[in-house]
Amino acid sequence: MKTHQAKLKILSLLSDGQFYSGEYLGEQLGVSRAAVSKHIKGIQDWGVDVFRVQGKGYQLAQPMQLLDEHLIQQHVSNPVTLHPIIDSTNQYLVERAGDLESGAVCLAEYQSKGRGRRGRQWNSPFGANLYFSMYWKLEAGMAAAMGLSLVVGIAVIEALKALGVDDVKLKWPNDLYYQDKKLAGILVEVSGQAGDAAHLIIGMGMNLFMRQEDITIDQPWTTLSQVMGEHLIDRNELAVALIRSWTDILRGYEETGIAGFIDAWNSMDNFINRPVKLLMGDQVVRGIERGIDTHGAVLLETEEGIRSFVGGEISLRSDEKQDDN
Ligand code: ATP
Ligand code: BTN
Repeated sequence: MKTHQAKLKILSLLSDGQFYSGEYLGEQLGVSRAAVSKHIKGIQDWGVDVFRVQGKGYQLAQPMQLLDEHLIQQHVSNPVTLHPIIDSTNQYLVERAGDLESGAVCLAEYQSKGRGRRGRQWNSPFGANLYFSMYWKLEAGMAAAMGLSLVVGIAVIEALKALGVDDVKLKWPNDLYYQDKKLAGILVEVSGQAGDAAHLIIGMGMNLFMRQEDITIDQPWTTLSQVMGEHLIDRNELAVALIRSWTDILRGYEETGIAGFIDAWNSMDNFINRPVKLLMGDQVVRGIERGIDTHGAVLLETEEGIRSFVGGEISLRSDEKQDDN
């Protein structure tokens, strides 16, 4: 049995949160107890909290609901592939963009090289969160990509609301915040020629059960379990809801462009009417955030009046006194 497969089989046996002896796990896999112990070490390296109690065996710190490709596929018309272990779901689709149909989805349980913007790392422990990407061919071309990257954030909030989760907000351009902490990040990667269709890979990491003590992240963050309670989250149902919501909004966006979405976006903006700073390389611009305009640019009321800012290299941060991010 290949080593990933052995680890995945052990995880699926342990996923109900009960104790299983090394001997039992070994029998199920047809390997020795020493081999099981080695696989358990590998599972811990994926960020899973699994421990051993003398005389009882191995147990997960918390039960784990694994993603089910067939179940998800039954509920969406998009082509879906689940790769439990991958470098990055965005990278997987980037490499295949030419062969995909719009709406194709790649999901993972663990990313060894999950990425944010400008090569920053996205923490992706196994089974704790959602990591998925969707390919979209945008006939309107590169110029329409900025607006598209904004509307997918709206779709996430709408999907969460339908599941009973309120008060999740947006941070321009497309991160998801809850109580001023980062809940999810969206990374849109675009390729294409001017005057031609654009190929977009839209990836999202949403924290579901990630534990504070297991992870070091250099900014305040939160998980959906803190928002809605652990027992209410069904990872497969959430994946389906998000895939559907993205697909619907992307179709809508192709019809109307950003114009139909500005009010919705502004009503979900976490920082609207609050002091913020925009970081652009060495440059910092301070002002009061006033939402977005019809180009998808963020508006700042500065001493020189209202200014608009657009572009992939801008980071928005709170500029309230108690916050020194
Ligand atoms: P901006 O895009 O505005 O600069 P950002 O600082 O969030 O926002 P990104 O590149 O978008 O930067 O995201 C990567 C950053 O997100 C990392 O540098 C880290 O601070 C944070 N991060 C990484 N993994 C997670 C996670 N699982 N949950 C929340 N935040 C994370
Ligand atoms: C951000 O910088 O805030 C965006 C982070 C995006 C992370 C997701 S996880 C799924 C997809 N695959 C990646 O490698 N990145 C995105």
